[in-house]
Amino acid sequence: TRAHLTIDPYFTVGTVNRRLFGSFVEHLGRCVYDGIYEPGHPTADDHGYREDVIALVRELGVTAIRYPGGNFVSGYRWEDGIGPREQRPRRLDLAWHSTETNEVGLDEFAAWLRKVGSELMYAVNLGTRGIHEALDVLEYANVPSGTRLSDLRIANGTPAPHDIRMWCLGNEMDGPWQLGHGAAEEYASLAAKTARAMRQVDPGLELVVCGSASAQMATFGSWERTVLEATYDEVDYISCHAYYEPKDGDYASFLASAVNMDRFIESVAATADHVKAERRSSKTMYISFDEWNVWYQSRYRAERHTGIGDWPIAPRLLENTYSVMDAVVFGNLLISLIRHADRVTSASLAQLVNVIAPIMTEPGGPAWRQTTFFPFALTSRLARGEALEVKLDSPAYTSALHGDVTVVDAVATHDAGSGATAVFLVNRDEESEAEIEIDVRMLGDIRVRDVWTVSDKDPHAANTLEQPDRVRPAANPTAALSDGTVTVSLPPVSWTALTLG
Ligand code: AHR
Repeated sequence: TRAHLTIDPYFTVGTVNRRLFGSFVEHLGRCVYDGIYEPGHPTADDHGYREDVIALVRELGVTAIRYPGGNFVSGYRWEDGIGPREQRPRRLDLAWHSTETNEVGLDEFAAWLRKVGSELMYAVNLGTRGIHEALDVLEYANVPSGTRLSDLRIANGTPAPHDIRMWCLGNEMDGPWQLGHGAAEEYASLAAKTARAMRQVDPGLELVVCGSASAQMATFGSWERTVLEATYDEVDYISCHAYYEPKDGDYASFLASAVNMDRFIESVAATADHVKAERRSSKTMYISFDEWNVWYQSRYRAERHTGIGDWPIAPRLLENTYSVMDAVVFGNLLISLIRHADRVTSASLAQLVNVIAPIMTEPGGPAWRQTTFFPFALTSRLARGEALEVKLDSPAYTSALHGDVTVVDAVATHDAGSGATAVFLVNRDEESEAEIEIDVRMLGDIRVRDVWTVSDKDPHAANTLEQPDRVRPAANPTAALSDGTVTVSLPPVSWTALTLG
């Protein structure tokens, strides 16, 4: 396969917002408990946070973390998680059929984030609760002092306000599985009222209204329209969520999952622009792609707990082991997000530790990087400045789910300040190498800096507790620059990051 790419630093799409490299921590399975928090662990600090996990989260380059859910938030009482630990109640978590001990709550998570160096993005419960509780948690979190709830935060040991900027107005309220799910009109009205009330506390908040749980939802499109018609002036973002997995061994379609993400983003942007036109508004609605990943969702049914007497604490749920192929699809999803940097200005990899996660841990034992860790860490580190509109010519193949798709996919970023250009590439071909020629003449006098490729002779190879370093990105020695053209070979089923400057 031969493909051709042209890069011109003047053809910009939009600035790559650092919030594109966000993630998500839900009270689900072992994400919080036995994940970021394990008081008895040899690396635990005085507060019970695993330092080995903190080091990996920093290395991953995560910028903003959505918390505390997810489906969990739709039954959550935020005040259960504040104050003296021994007085915190144990509660049923209906979303994941677990017991929530509330050992970690808003103050602990915010303290953990300060150590990690990431921003907090907080979701309020609009499933079983409403305006009042959203205002309460906002007062507790953001008001400096002098009121009941802000003084309570201070009494609980957090003198400075958390100053949370981004707030999600509920989670996946279009999903019939969601506690409190109802018709679009019902949610739209509650979200609009909650947003207006929260802005009375602080007009500068950035608010995210729930879009669809996936582009496959029966209400997709009409949900966005109804919700935005009611909330357009009140919110800043509409959310998108998407998870991908191979179905019936159809890897050709799975490898092209980013095509679905592209269409999803473009459809939501079109719907938002339709509402913008209807309202004669000059405001652009941005997208917060606040859940995305590869998720072997079909396996979840077997691991689910059920029954009135079975509510485990931090059970092993959604602990997917990711292969090289999964990492390639994952890296391609990042390419799709960057390509839409003008509309997608915030995104959250779901999730961060143990639960469909790039970082895995064993209780009392090690923490390790999954295959998906590498495309995320490299993209977060290298994708700086402006996303570029690249011109790609690639052979195509026909996939059952997405129709005709290109074999190679690519995006590039350019940082005018440092002069660095990064190119992110995938080869979706399962059998053949792809040779790509990149026309870099418009970049001037540059050199090839680093070329990292994630691939393996066995596309199903993975990192596990037993073999935590089985898969690593490797330097790709094939890149060469001559006469303004960089050529590089992309192995079958591979993801590559290349830097020029
Ligand atoms: O990330 C796992 C779950 O997926 C989240 O709780 C929910 O929002 C989505 O359906």
